[in-house]
Amino acid sequence: MSFSWAKPYEPKHPLMRWIDERLPLPRVVYGAIGGGYPVPRNLNYWWNFGVLAGIFLTIQIVTGIVLAMHYIPSTNGAFNSVNELIMRDVNAGWLLRYVHMNGASFFFLVTYIHIFRGLYYGSYKAPRELVWMLGLVIYLLMMATAFMGYVLPWGQMSYWGAQVITNFFSALPVVGEPLRVWILGGYAPDQAALSRFFSLHYLLPFIIAGVVILHIWALHIPGSNNPTGVDVRDERDTLPFHPFYTAKDGWFAAAVLLFFALVTYFLPNYLGNPDNYIPANPLATPAEIVPEWYLLPFYAILRSFTADFILPAKLWGVLAMFSAILLLFFLPWIDRSPVRSGRYRPVFKRFFWLLVIDVIVLGWVGGSPVKPLTVAVGQIASAYYFLHFLVILPLVSAFETPLPLPNSITEAVLEREEAHEAAEAKKPRRTKTATAAAE
Ligand code: HEM
Repeated sequence: MSFSWAKPYEPKHPLMRWIDERLPLPRVVYGAIGGGYPVPRNLNYWWNFGVLAGIFLTIQIVTGIVLAMHYIPSTNGAFNSVNELIMRDVNAGWLLRYVHMNGASFFFLVTYIHIFRGLYYGSYKAPRELVWMLGLVIYLLMMATAFMGYVLPWGQMSYWGAQVITNFFSALPVVGEPLRVWILGGYAPDQAALSRFFSLHYLLPFIIAGVVILHIWALHIPGSNNPTGVDVRDERDTLPFHPFYTAKDGWFAAAVLLFFALVTYFLPNYLGNPDNYIPANPLATPAEIVPEWYLLPFYAILRSFTADFILPAKLWGVLAMFSAILLLFFLPWIDRSPVRSGRYRPVFKRFFWLLVIDVIVLGWVGGSPVKPLTVAVGQIASAYYFLHFLVILPLVSAFETPLPLPNSITEAVLEREEAHEAAEAKKPRRTKTATAAAE
């Protein structure tokens, strides 16, 4: 499809022309995120979160590199290097650390919104299955990176978190225990584990950045989905990425970064666990071992098996936790509905919101102490999670009658505008005489 507004790349600056003739990188950028990339004209704010995820990934890499210059990866030195050296002696070290700590939370927050946006608008469906699957690879890498990063300050929660999570590997039959010892480089978290977690925590974000490039490349083949889920028909349905979406992404990113700055400056430890300000002590187990908030829903699934049934309960927990993520890889084939957007799927839409509530409940259970009530709620919520993807979604996609789809993106935009104008026209207006009478 050709877009008449999309002018071929013409370097304006002589330096750009010089570079472009030798290495056509400016041309590639123009075609990928510049005035040469067509984007549906009706994207709403939920489409800003991919770019935000990219911004937070960059923040994490930049602050992480500087933190690593001062961090001491030894079981004797790690805690003090973080809590004394970086927090007190390094110039603006406290800021670097707080930005990195809270940056991780914001990175997960915007990524979760990005994932749920994809779930609601059916962005995982053909022809974007690979975009979705590469996104899931990024998500798995993010979880591994976050887990290993949390071990680095070598506080109580770092140590016991590493202990508990690696312990779950030992639930696997035959290979479990050797695997755990192999991962840790010993029988318990110690220097070997800290060294390798530090090395991998430094490496993985660059791998994530590589997969992000593949993710966006795969997206640029079909182009973005949009709130109607209807395919782009002709050039009237699109706008050039620059200046329209660079402006929209830009101001929205500024607003989110302002909020991020408020949390980082005024509530830097709100999302953290106070026990991690106590140095790691292998002889004193904390009352509650809780991972960071963004891993809590999966932690709840992991802990929801309390009795052995054919297999040990612990193994069921590990299998359930991994399947909870792995089944998302099959989502494009589980949901067979030809309609993408939840906007035109009345039944799907309701179950989508139930899923959102279910994941929030799982998060609450994951962060709560183990009591009969929380265990029961966790079991119901875990069961519902699987029910949603394995039973409800296939049934809904087979039997639901979708609402009529607009013929095109432009038609949907115009319909909305007309509806808005009609609603505005119906509103009682205060004429000058009415205002004067009221006064
Ligand atoms: C470092 C993390 C990530 C970055 C930087 C990133 C970046 C992006 C960007 C820039 C876009 C285009 C803009 C937009 O649609 O928001 C996009 C689209 C998309 N992403 Fe991601 N993403 C990340 C993680 C994920 C994850 C974890 C998933 C899902 C599991 C995912 C699934 C998708 C899908 C399905 C689209 C296509 C959306 C559409 O066209 O409707 N992404 N991503």
